[in-house]
Amino acid sequence: MLLIIREMPQAVLERARREHETRELRLQGAFNPQAVLGNIEGVNAILCVTTDKFDAALINALPHSVKVIATSSVGVEHIDLDAAAARGIKICNTPDVLTNATAETALMLMLMAARRAGEGERILRAGQWQGLTPTFLLGRDVSNKALGIFGMGRIGRALARMAQGLNMQIHYRNRNRLPPELEQGAIYHGDDASFLGAIDFLSMNAPGGSATLRWLNAERLALLKPGAIVVNTGRGTSVDDEALIAALRAGHVAAAGLDVFTNEPEIAPGYRELENVVLLPHIGSATVETRNAMGFLALHGIKAALGA
Ligand code: DGY
Repeated sequence: MLLIIREMPQAVLERARREHETRELRLQGAFNPQAVLGNIEGVNAILCVTTDKFDAALINALPHSVKVIATSSVGVEHIDLDAAAARGIKICNTPDVLTNATAETALMLMLMAARRAGEGERILRAGQWQGLTPTFLLGRDVSNKALGIFGMGRIGRALARMAQGLNMQIHYRNRNRLPPELEQGAIYHGDDASFLGAIDFLSMNAPGGSATLRWLNAERLALLKPGAIVVNTGRGTSVDDEALIAALRAGHVAAAGLDVFTNEPEIAPGYRELENVVLLPHIGSATVETRNAMGFLALHGIKAALGA
């Protein structure tokens, strides 16, 4: 029996139903562990997403019939991996298939933030546009600028390739320097000061977790060039929201584009008051093709884990 916690794309559900007996919760809003535990009888596999927190308490309360938890996400920080390993429960996720969609979102946010697209839309929708003038809604060029990528994994590298199409110079900060075939001409920085001081755009593409917790804090923001633009499609937890809001208010950071937040679906209230921030509701991988591919990959992981 496969327990499916959230609404999934139709094609994914159809495949799941062909491959397993399914129990479909279609849980909306906040995750509720009791909904899982109340429907767990006979379940040997669980399909979840990043909002569904499988902490040690929940994992330890699962019956021994549960052999695998598959998350339709690349991120696994919502699952206590040690607790799962201790219980012999396999965990699978969906890397690779969401790389381009998420990199596209980062590029979209860079363009929207730099070109003040959100502000323009709000002006038009409010019926306040009085026509073109040479000084109306001036943004910044993206082409030919220096892009800094924090987290040069698959998504960071896909963004680098896309940005090279705009003739951007790519700098990166990563746990380790990449081999030349993956670096593709990008400039590695071994310290924050040289990285942040070299770039016009900062894209956060790092995973969540303790290693990146509030990495972009007031101290590091101060190292950016005045007028830099920040985008985040990684995890909200890697940004100190109050520090970014203060930098946006002061204009030290000219604009930001955010798709991820610390306490989703809540966001730090200060962002709502700022015109120079573009806000998206965690849609980095939200395309039909990508969400199908994620679901299929999660199902593949379940099959492999169950030895079916
Ligand atoms: C992921 O896959 O981790 C994305 O954030 C979407 O959930």
